[in-house]
Amino acid sequence: MLHEELMDIIMDHYENPRNSGEIKDPDVEFHGGNPGCGDTITLQMKISNEGIVEDIKFEIEGCIVSNAGTSMISEKVINKHIDEIKKIGRDEMRELLGKDIIIRRPQCSHLGIDTIKSAIRKYEKEKLASEI
Ligand code: FES
Repeated sequence: MLHEELMDIIMDHYENPRNSGEIKDPDVEFHGGNPGCGDTITLQMKISNEGIVEDIKFEIEGCIVSNAGTSMISEKVINKHIDEIKKIGRDEMRELLGKDIIIRRPQCSHLGIDTIKSAIRKYEKEKLASEI
């Protein structure tokens, strides 16, 4: 993809974030952020008993890259099993945001996916605790 095309896509996600907002009755909510800059994110998910992410919403106080990256990855995780999401690596974000941005802004680029994984860990711990 051309650099300019990619920039248009990133700006579109920044200006019209997908899955931005709030879930009334989430199965998990996680507050995260980037300690390096102080930006924050609140992420919520609805997860079925079978472990499928049925809905995801986020509210973020962050830069263009963290906003766009979170919006992009939020579209990818819907209807996926949490075990599959846990395996999403750095390559996936590189594909979405491009190598240059990933290298220059690694923390911003991965804020969304890292928060999603943290939320899944929290969900699993809470589920386990409720089953004991
Ligand atoms: Fe804070 Fe990018 S500058 S997340």
